[in-house]
Amino acid sequence: MRIAAPIEIGPLDAAAQQAVRDLAAAAESHDGVAPLSEQPLLNLGTDAEWITHVVAHTTSGSTIGYVQVDRSGETASAELVIHPEHRRNGRGRMLLKTAERDATLPSRSGEPSQHGKQLRVWAHGDLEAARGFARAAGMHPVRELLFLARTFEQSAAPQLPTAPAGYHLRTFRPGVDDDAWLRVNARAFATHPEQGRMTLDDLRARQAEEWFDPEGFFLLVPESTGEGTSKDSADGAAGADPVAFQWTKVEPGRPDGVRDGEIYVLGVDPDHQGKGLGRLMTDVGLAHLARTGATRAVLYVEGDNAPALATYERSGFTRAAVHVQYARP
Ligand SMILES: CC(C)(COP(=O)(O)OP(=O)(O)OC[C@H]1O[C@@H](n2cnc3c(N)ncnc32)[C@H](O)[C@@H]1OP(=O)(O)O)[C@@H](O)C(=O)NCCC(=O)NCCS
Repeated sequence: MRIAAPIEIGPLDAAAQQAVRDLAAAAESHDGVAPLSEQPLLNLGTDAEWITHVVAHTTSGSTIGYVQVDRSGETASAELVIHPEHRRNGRGRMLLKTAERDATLPSRSGEPSQHGKQLRVWAHGDLEAARGFARAAGMHPVRELLFLARTFEQSAAPQLPTAPAGYHLRTFRPGVDDDAWLRVNARAFATHPEQGRMTLDDLRARQAEEWFDPEGFFLLVPESTGEGTSKDSADGAAGADPVAFQWTKVEPGRPDGVRDGEIYVLGVDPDHQGKGLGRLMTDVGLAHLARTGATRAVLYVEGDNAPALATYERSGFTRAAVHVQYARP
């Protein structure tokens, strides 16, 4: 019998990717929260210089632990999970140590932008085990991501709000609006560690997902302001950049009774903030999600984003969960 190495570092073939998805599903049904978020799941098949995959195996080769390190940002970000039946055996500690080495040691080929970074580890749901684990590793919370929710009363299907004078509300056109949207997204999220760095490849990866629906992706664009900026020009050009957007996400095939619709990304260009457009685009997202039959609207927001939190609280959202990022001081 082949004895599997306790840990393996390197790209994941299709079977190894599926084993990690199964591990994440086992942890989710045990812990009540998914241990890997969207981007690491999208990265499972990625063999990029800035991504490291580390898998822990039993001697017979079953996948019982996984950590992914993403060094593309200013700090390195990791997501880590150990199978519920194999916890408290030191495997979490072993994977964390490997991840930390990967992030902090300078690489042999000497790419300074890729290594030598502080490691930050996400704990989704802020579970007791994760808190104890982080404490034992000498790590402290450095960032909080809040998960907010509000239920819908399913009375009449709400109308989409109308755009204010001077603006036009329309849906996203894949392949036409991509660059204009990336520009406004980068401006709206200039200080956000992940969202503001989204690239065309990142956008296309999401467009290829089963849940992607351009009819649930709204742009608020200025009415035609002159030559060459027509929003519906005959050649299909994007026209003037949007000033605000609302991208919603509804996962297909969720079990009965779970009809969450997500306010996936909402942004307002900094030059147009403070005019009520955030509130308007929230209402656009809520009306759209209610029309899709969602029973609950959900969203993620940074714990220190006071203006966004105030907007969402005014719209009836309350805190349903918190995700915490840990790091060494
Ligand atoms: C958190 C997690 C990764 C720990 O994995 P693990 O393999 O059980 O951890 P280890 O056995 O290496 O534990 C190392 C130390 O962490 C602490 N720890 C681990 N689990 C703990 C728990 N449930 N309660 C309190 N402390 C705990 C202990 O000090 C432990 O040392 P000890 O067993 O000698 O007392 C695992 O519970 C998990 O996958 N949780 C879901 C995903 C998650 O939250 N990931 C984010 C981690 S920051």
